[in-house]
Amino acid sequence: MFCLVSEHRLVSEPVYAGSVPENPLAPDWLREPGDANALADGVWSQNALRDASGELVIAGVPASRLAAEFGTPVYVLDEDDARGRARATKAAFDAAMQGIGTSAKVYYAGKAFLSTEVVRWVAEAGLGIDVASEGELAVALAGGIEPSRIGVHGNNKSERQIVRAVEAGVGAIVIDSAIEVERVAAAAAKAGKRQRVRLRINSGVHASTHEYLATAHEDQKFGVTVADAPRIVQAIRGLPGLEFIGLHSHIGSQIFEVHGFEEAARRLLALHAELLRDGPVPELNLGGGFGIAYTSADDPMPVERIAAGMAAALAAAAAELGIEVPVIAVEPGRSIIGRAGTTLYTVGTVKPVAVDTAQGVAVRKYVSVDGGMSDNIRTSLYHAAYSARIASRVSEDRPALARVAGMHCESGDIVVRDEYLPMDVGPGDLLAVPATGAYGWAMASNYNWVPRPPVVAVRDGQARLIVRGETIDDLLARDAGI
Ligand code: LLP
Repeated sequence: MFCLVSEHRLVSEPVYAGSVPENPLAPDWLREPGDANALADGVWSQNALRDASGELVIAGVPASRLAAEFGTPVYVLDEDDARGRARATKAAFDAAMQGIGTSAKVYYAGKAFLSTEVVRWVAEAGLGIDVASEGELAVALAGGIEPSRIGVHGNNKSERQIVRAVEAGVGAIVIDSAIEVERVAAAAAKAGKRQRVRLRINSGVHASTHEYLATAHEDQKFGVTVADAPRIVQAIRGLPGLEFIGLHSHIGSQIFEVHGFEEAARRLLALHAELLRDGPVPELNLGGGFGIAYTSADDPMPVERIAAGMAAALAAAAAELGIEVPVIAVEPGRSIIGRAGTTLYTVGTVKPVAVDTAQGVAVRKYVSVDGGMSDNIRTSLYHAAYSARIASRVSEDRPALARVAGMHCESGDIVVRDEYLPMDVGPGDLLAVPATGAYGWAMASNYNWVPRPPVVAVRDGQARLIVRGETIDDLLARDAGI
């Protein structure tokens, strides 16, 4: 149902002159829900539910308690959800790769979200960690994971980062360009160590995702071409401080089809077979990028299907090439931590805005919250779709098409572009946005001098601070003029 208004462009209270089944401002994928309080299947963390009073409770902790104790905005991580997905990913790849006569290594991509607590969760689930900066390396080491279970990435690693990684004894450094061969070799020589390295290949596989999230089409900064790889591997093999352990490919992020991974597996394995002629190639790393559901319109593949699809493609390609399937590594981030996260906000202002459409004037309700693009840049950056629900209560009011906006000084500051919320959503309501565990906090900023929110882990009715939120004093402390 949507509001038709006659001549107002901005109305303080919507005027109902009629109703049609859907608001014409709604995108095609968004259906008006029968119940605008319902938590969509597959989107919320596994321990999110509404209690008898209607309040959202995550892992036994009510939203109101989280808001009272930690303030809003706050990122809430459902610990058992994250741990369970880490274990399930490991189990799926172990089973699929054992089924084709090899084994699997699963790294958690720390760029999605990293804190020492999460390092412990994934390490206990049997995963390694992939880090992409000196900071991520420091957090992984501080979390106590064995350095041999850390993989190091980056298209422009600083020399200091390379030295730190080698000195720490990381399990593998992924070389991204010919220039890095010398840099890693120099660091290994200085440390008197032999460093295991992979080589990242730009496989040319186009993943069907947002352009910025697709990383393996030719015109981008990551990796080396299939044609250049043999020469670079030869250089690596010629250096005593380096041990070549295999190729690496990451085709992109938030991918829903197994086809891209299968194609990358086939292409990489053909190159892998060529390299086997001149020496050992024990492993093949196929990266991460497994998609998750942000709204009920998303239909991600179960990890078992991805693992089975990759395994089948690898087994077939290896048979054709007449080689053994190497140890297979993968490094998902989002699919492990994304769904575990929920952001809680407080609604500050609500504003119905009338918009001309071909079907008449429709109203979109702007619901402004106390965070925004500083805690979730994904909507502005990638036009990512999210969903939202009132967390503090249920409402019997009819659904209204809403847009959840932030408090920043620009109109692109949107947290949830399109969602139906109860018409009476208003100031003081707690609003929950699910599936914010990956690339939310990790890409947070201090835009408008807004302090970054805390991260709280919830489990069995207990809430624990795992990353402290910033304060205004933290911000002032960095201003050298004070
Ligand atoms: N491995 C490599 C080499 C990567 O570059 C990435 C992500 C991953 C693994 C993990 O991908 P995941 O499984 O989390 O999709 N900021 C973007 C995502 C950028 C991903 C960059 N690399 C977003 O918010 O969607």
